[in-house]
Amino acid sequence: MNIILFGAPGAGKGTQSALLVERRNMRHISTGDLFRAHVKQGTRLGTEAKTYMDAGKLVPDEIVLGMVEDVLKELGSQSFILDGFPRTAPQAEALEAMLKNYDLSISKALFLEVPTERLMARLTGRRVCSSCGASYHIEAKPPQRAGICDLCGGIVDQRPDDQESVIRTRLEAYEKSTAPLKSYFTGKGQFVAVPGLGSTEDVYKQLVSHLD
Ligand code: AP5
Repeated sequence: MNIILFGAPGAGKGTQSALLVERRNMRHISTGDLFRAHVKQGTRLGTEAKTYMDAGKLVPDEIVLGMVEDVLKELGSQSFILDGFPRTAPQAEALEAMLKNYDLSISKALFLEVPTERLMARLTGRRVCSSCGASYHIEAKPPQRAGICDLCGGIVDQRPDDQESVIRTRLEAYEKSTAPLKSYFTGKGQFVAVPGLGSTEDVYKQLVSHLD
């Protein structure tokens, strides 16, 4: 089963995707991660995207779409999770066309529901391993040794877009462009709201109850 996992910045999309990859052998396709990989490799796409990401703005659709198509056309039969895509109405429409082209389909668009007032604390407290991408939180899930990744020993640091002023811009972009997709997916019969509060295990249980 292929799914879209969407929600506000900090709703827990990356955290839940990591569990689905580990426990359900799903492929995680995160446009945010793909962009960060391009930035790290210093590609032209990465340089273009970085300007928008650092400012908390959405990367223009035409840049995002080319990058996603490159991934979709090489997918095998493994079930996948789209995380952070689509994020705008034109992206959602373009996705539909791409899925048709590559004979793929999406069963559900699972929306992680977290009240806005909880998002800021999640994001300002998030720390990420610069080597393997593992995600931590200074209060809820600190690494065992401060600043060092439990999994690979890499440096655990703050994402440049997890500064409070940038988070505000990301939340505005979400409200304006991504939240309206709730009605788009409802119209397609794919929308499912999943409570995103509680422990990550609680959220995971709720999430997978819609996959079986
Ligand atoms: P992206 O990387 O996709 O960022 P985002 O959507 O803002 O989402 P986040 O990664 O910030 O949050 P998340 O929901 O994954 O939360 P997480 O699980 O980490 O995109 C970054 C940028 O790239 C965008 O701003 C844009 O510029 C660009 N971009 C990407 N895709 C694009 C697109 N399609 N179009 C245009 N531009 C695009 O959790 C957050 C924190 O909360 C962690 O510390 C975690 O430990 C903690 N946490 C998680 N779950 C729980 C829980 N249940 N209880 C308590 N804490 C929890």
